Amino acid sequence: MQKIQTPFYYYDLDLLDQTLSKMVRARGDSSFHVHYALKANAEAKILAKMKATGLGVDCVSGGEVRYALEQGFGADQIVYAGVGKTDWELELAISSEVHGINCESIEELVVIAEVANKLQKSANVYLRLNPNIDAKTHPNITTGTLRNKFGIPANELWLALEELAKYPCLVFAGLHFHIGSQIEDLSPFVRLCTEVNVLQKALRDKGYNPANVNVGGGLGIDYKKPDANPIADFDTYFENYRRYLNIYDNQQVHFELGRSLVGQVGYLFSEVLYIKKTKELDFAIIDAGMSELMRPALYGARHVIQNVSSVLPDHEYEVVGPICESTDTFGKHVLPTTQRGDLLQIRSVGAYGSVLSTQYNMRGENQPMFSDEENAQQFFSALHAEV
Ligand code: LLP
Repeated sequence: MQKIQTPFYYYDLDLLDQTLSKMVRARGDSSFHVHYALKANAEAKILAKMKATGLGVDCVSGGEVRYALEQGFGADQIVYAGVGKTDWELELAISSEVHGINCESIEELVVIAEVANKLQKSANVYLRLNPNIDAKTHPNITTGTLRNKFGIPANELWLALEELAKYPCLVFAGLHFHIGSQIEDLSPFVRLCTEVNVLQKALRDKGYNPANVNVGGGLGIDYKKPDANPIADFDTYFENYRRYLNIYDNQQVHFELGRSLVGQVGYLFSEVLYIKKTKELDFAIIDAGMSELMRPALYGARHVIQNVSSVLPDHEYEVVGPICESTDTFGKHVLPTTQRGDLLQIRSVGAYGSVLSTQYNMRGENQPMFSDEENAQQFFSALHAEV
């Protein structure tokens, strides 16, 4: 097989197609709208697939809103969240007339109104509520408890609505929630439905009939078994919402899915530079590190690693990157006996992989993060034909 420069990300676009069609089938109902969480992976080819599937986009910065518009998404397909929106970001969102601005504090509401008035525009505002639900995922990616900075505490809903009513330029589009990411046990989503039902009932009792409800994203993927379970459990995920969420008067339900759409699609290929043995451990030192894939260092995340060059007997290695940080490790892995020059594939890196990469240690020189498409495609096909 021809040698290819590493490290690089490869995206299996066929798997992406299969994932999207499975998701679309499971979503079914035409009142369910999925917005792709652009933060997970902003590769143009991936985004083009999302667009072709008719998905909207979930953005968390002015940069993302601008990029989504440039990539041809309609403003009416864009939802925009974030606890720290700046004035220029709000100006962009309001002047482009995005579908919804997910407002995260009463203080922000005042600024949205100021900006909308200045532009002589109206703004569609969702109130992002913090329902204080523990998503039972990693604490660093939990967002829906009162220890997290996100959203307006649910008991301040009425205060927020009072404030919103002061500004004729603001339209109350609905409630927004997002309780966390990589949620594998789906029961927190059922709890979320119960909370949303209580809040929506209370709204109706007071005469509010918002046209939408946005329940965020968070559906997890199987990092342990990417080959056995390449596609997330969209069936149960949407079925839960159909069964447990009360939807009033043709309300439209919005979802913001990131990881579950792209996570399993990504591979990070890396070459083994050295095998270094100490009394304690055998290290496999590879040419990708936390600068290319931050998740292990940031969240202690574990990704399956496969040696695609060796069929020798298994051996345990601590697989580490070249960065000058002790947290630059992918953890212990049992691999076929590995040597300098072997090629490893790190799995399930399509979401929050390349987007979180940095130039730390002045990395990036002579390292194509995305090797040129044709080369990579040939390489990947050859590799998987051989294995
Ligand atoms: N909506 C909002 C408001 C969000 O903050 C997020 C993710 C999503 C939707 C999409 O969530 P998903 O469906 O992808 O779980 N870097 C971390 C994950 C951070 C998630 C940030 N927010 C990781 O690598 O695990």
